[in-house]
Amino acid sequence: MNDIARVGALAPALSEAAIAADEFDRMRAQNLARWPTGADVDFDEAVAFQHALPEHKRLAVAMRRAHADGRCLTQPRGGFATLAMQKELMRALDRDGLADIVPTTTDSYTRNEQFAAAQKGVDESERLGRSLLNGFPIVNYGLAAGRELVAAIDKPAILLTGTSMPKLTAEIGFAAGYTGYLGSGIAYTTSYIKELSIADGIRNYQYLDRLAARYAEHGVELHRRQPGFLTGTNIPPCIAIAIAILDCLLAAAQGVRHYGLELAQTLHLVQDAAAIAACEALAQEYLLRKGYHDVFTPVTSLHWMGAWPQDDAQCATLVSYGGTLAAIGGATSVTTKSTHEAFGIPTPQANAEGLRITRMAIYLARGIRLAGMPEYEAEKALIGREVRAILDKVLEMGDGDVAVGSVRAFEAGVLDVPWSPNRHVKSRVMPARDARGYLRIFDPGELPLPRDVLEIHADGLRERAAREGVAFDRELAIRSVYELSEPLSKLLPD
Ligand code: 5AD
Repeated sequence: MNDIARVGALAPALSEAAIAADEFDRMRAQNLARWPTGADVDFDEAVAFQHALPEHKRLAVAMRRAHADGRCLTQPRGGFATLAMQKELMRALDRDGLADIVPTTTDSYTRNEQFAAAQKGVDESERLGRSLLNGFPIVNYGLAAGRELVAAIDKPAILLTGTSMPKLTAEIGFAAGYTGYLGSGIAYTTSYIKELSIADGIRNYQYLDRLAARYAEHGVELHRRQPGFLTGTNIPPCIAIAIAILDCLLAAAQGVRHYGLELAQTLHLVQDAAAIAACEALAQEYLLRKGYHDVFTPVTSLHWMGAWPQDDAQCATLVSYGGTLAAIGGATSVTTKSTHEAFGIPTPQANAEGLRITRMAIYLARGIRLAGMPEYEAEKALIGREVRAILDKVLEMGDGDVAVGSVRAFEAGVLDVPWSPNRHVKSRVMPARDARGYLRIFDPGELPLPRDVLEIHADGLRERAAREGVAFDRELAIRSVYELSEPLSKLLPD
């Protein structure tokens, strides 16, 4: 039996099909019984609460307006251990940072569903008066506390959860009045967790997307969003886009009609602008191919997700340039970082400053677009060829089923993520920066990219090796991971 047949045999129940209504009711009851605060969620009451939110606190409305007006909204990340600290943070981001979208990032225990451990973190943080968790444990605090946070700000609130197990945070978050939820089955499972299978990550997010679709059936449009890649390394746009589209198709199959797509910046102006445009166009192309005509897919650009420098001035440049890239690229929103990134969780003040730097950069980029510029058009076309080559193969491997195709494709390396922590990913693909600063692919592993496309990648990388007088080998890939965290004296010697 070949690899593909074997995987198919192991995962017979997995499919992209929408979870049936009665089955979903049963799953919800089981899910909500897993922690005491789950009992507070009453779907009809939650729908009424969402309906009562004013328009300016609904992320779906804000994203649709920004997209229609060609504006780029700002959004930070942020989470502390206690309700009081979280409230103060969210107010600071709203008022001092002028954030258009206010976040609640959950802590690592919550992400791993270790709610008892999260409670210890809350208690200790209360006792010491400082946050001992790297985010807000929304499941422990529950519905009423979530509503207090939503009430404390005058903007839409989004839950940022960094998890492959989103089922309780989503139930409590949506019922509390959060109108956005970041996360997806493929991207998070291949970014954040070692043992969980791709199939189980997909299943967990099918639940969440089915829940978002159920809110939509009751007239509540929520902003679902795919999380791009958070592996802390370089992800070439074609890989990020192919996976974003697969996550999007899986959500659409559950009934979601509003699905944002995130792309981490490569920090190359032309490549990032081309990637943002290609991402949305290709998402629409594949949605149409699967028969979905009405899915809204705005793109969010992420400030640099790789290793950061320690120097304030270098960091401020990455923050500012990140605003420029997002705005010129035509992203509908940008997720910001701060000058504290290399050291840990930012203070509310530093976080708010990152937002304001970004906002100023967006203002300065007003109206500037690259459409028509030959290098930009060429890059967009290149990304299109790469993404189609990957996606067509994935769909073929799944006999048209996105869930099945994705699992089989990871097993075969047809879908691959560089330096993934997940043991179900081959991680043979190796990216590196080329002589002109483009993020290229040094070793494609089993990615099904056309030969002439790979030649373009290799040419740029050979040019860099020759220019730097180093070997054309894996060292190019490894050095590209650390490059931007180097001190200026090393990046631009005298
Ligand atoms: N507060 C602010 N930012 C956070 N991040 C993660 N947790 C928090 C938090 N509690 C940001 C960091 C990290 C990225 C994935 O999310 O910038 O690099």
